[in-house]
Amino acid sequence: MTKTLLILVICAFTLTSVAQPTLTIEADKPIAPVSPTLYGLMTEEINHSYDGGLYAELVQNRAFLDDAQTPVHWSVVQDANSSTTISLDTNQPLNDQLSTSLRLDVGAASKLHSAGVANSGYWGIPVFPSTRYHASFYARAAANFSGPVTVSIVSDDGATVYARARVPELSADWKLYELTLKTRGGIKPTAKARLILTVQQPGTVWFSLVSLFPPTWKNQPNGFRKDLMQMLVNMHPKFLRFPGGNFVEGDTVATRFNWEETVGPVSERPGHRGPWGYRSTDGFGLPEFLKWCEDMGAEPVLAVYAGYSLGGSHVQPGPDLDPFVQDALDEIEYVTSPTTTKWGAQRAADGHPRPYPLRYVEIGNEDWFDRSGSYDARFAQFYQAIKAKYPQLKCISTVGNEQPAEKRVHSVQPDLVDEHYYRSAHTFLADPAHFDNYDRHGPQIFVGEWAAHETSFPPWDAKSRKLPPTPNMTAALADAAWMTGMERNSDLIKMQCYAPLLVNVNPGARQWRPNLIGYDTLHSFGSPSYYAISMFSGNVGDEILKATLDDPTLFYSVTRDSQSGAILIKLVNSQPSPQTLKLDIQGVRLKHSGTATTLAAAPDATNSIDDPTNVVPVVSKVTGIKPAFTDTLPADSITILRLPVR
Ligand code: AHR
Repeated sequence: MTKTLLILVICAFTLTSVAQPTLTIEADKPIAPVSPTLYGLMTEEINHSYDGGLYAELVQNRAFLDDAQTPVHWSVVQDANSSTTISLDTNQPLNDQLSTSLRLDVGAASKLHSAGVANSGYWGIPVFPSTRYHASFYARAAANFSGPVTVSIVSDDGATVYARARVPELSADWKLYELTLKTRGGIKPTAKARLILTVQQPGTVWFSLVSLFPPTWKNQPNGFRKDLMQMLVNMHPKFLRFPGGNFVEGDTVATRFNWEETVGPVSERPGHRGPWGYRSTDGFGLPEFLKWCEDMGAEPVLAVYAGYSLGGSHVQPGPDLDPFVQDALDEIEYVTSPTTTKWGAQRAADGHPRPYPLRYVEIGNEDWFDRSGSYDARFAQFYQAIKAKYPQLKCISTVGNEQPAEKRVHSVQPDLVDEHYYRSAHTFLADPAHFDNYDRHGPQIFVGEWAAHETSFPPWDAKSRKLPPTPNMTAALADAAWMTGMERNSDLIKMQCYAPLLVNVNPGARQWRPNLIGYDTLHSFGSPSYYAISMFSGNVGDEILKATLDDPTLFYSVTRDSQSGAILIKLVNSQPSPQTLKLDIQGVRLKHSGTATTLAAAPDATNSIDDPTNVVPVVSKVTGIKPAFTDTLPADSITILRLPVR
């Protein structure tokens, strides 16, 4: 053989081996169980996740507490022959919790020329055809006024009344009024509408807690927006981590998530200012979080306030912290205890006599930010009190192994530690073996927040605000690669969840990017990462199989469903060209055909309100399956092969 020919042969051989990597799977060698709780969700009030999001309430600033100076989101309704003024009134509160009401002083009004007040909703009121809305309000009338009050959904220009109902008479004392507003068929859906309350005679009237709900998920009162709920259910989450995130901490101790103020009737929930720049009604409170879990078939992972707030203040461990520990114990009692207990009885009064299942309690959030060094002692105080009363519960520390040792908890052994990974897509793709060599003797891991960021970080800065609210395919590929690593190591990673989950895409509604699911007043859409996660969580086996891949550019995880025997192979090709992969599957007799679920798109492709299904998975049949066969992974793709056995 000449020297040139020899070089050519070597090159050809090298090219062949580079062009066709091999994934070798030992299908009869499960190495560990897949954590049954691996795939879940994380949530908090950020980006108008609940108010203006999953919580179906349509009236913004319904209790007139959003701004102490002016009734924001409310405006006067009058014409050339009617007149009124509106003002916030702290002298006529509905109760101690809703301490401000809206006073309407009508100077002139008549049957043809009504006067009143309008609410602009959360970026409009969504109007759908043939739909029944539930309206309600508290009101009391001055001696010079008796009613009626007309409640209508009206187009922004006032020209179209979509639905209308009337309360004939008001009483002099605070009273709740409820009405049904029904739109007719044939209406084109629109968000260019307002809710208005009008009167037809002069006089003074006060309003409190003005509310409007469209039909909700399973028609539950005080319930959830249907389209969003369906998208979440479709993710098959096994747990829900709530209520934060920063939302559990608050900017200050006073503005923490004080769960006791989020239970009971909504008319007795004062709401509070959250850390993301807007007030939370807390109409979506602890009872709603728990119901949400139940409706999704997910278990709660309950984060309790642990004495540290974002502004930097902390509660000294010891006697000062005792009341907060007691709050956490009471909260656990609310979730888990029979109705014979004080808080179990409150849960029943809130509509859920049956206790909820609870296994995990997270003590705080991101306590590595606490510069006082108090977390070790604070965690231990909570841990000991919780274990003494509820020994079955597992306590999660918020400081993981990715943080310096001096920040971590040492005085007791946390059951799990919560690690957060917000990284560039490049970093995720460069770190596929992140968890492969983790210490298996320490606490188990909860990756309680993670997301690939395609470009800029931090996610709240001016540059980020110019980018779309949800991630593109570049991020989805990195997210999927990251998930393969977590799934391969799910003997150690017991739970993981992307964050943030939800974003209202209207101008000014969001504080963070990227987020998994976007929506406006009428529509919703999943990002490519939403579909990547749904694909993974909908195709989890229960055993991790031994597998090796001789190629550094692809990402993989292989599991088996022990009941059916099916092999589930997750593959990510983040390269800009298709990749042919040889699959060498030993120790099993496979059927000749299976399915491939593929998400493939150009790196900058994404979904949006205007193009919600630009990037979605496609399911196809795979044939010619043998112990050794080849499959071609499209460029920039995420593929899940489901291979049934004979
Ligand atoms: O997910 C957004 C925020 O990121 C969370 O509130 C916080 O825990 C983290 O810093």
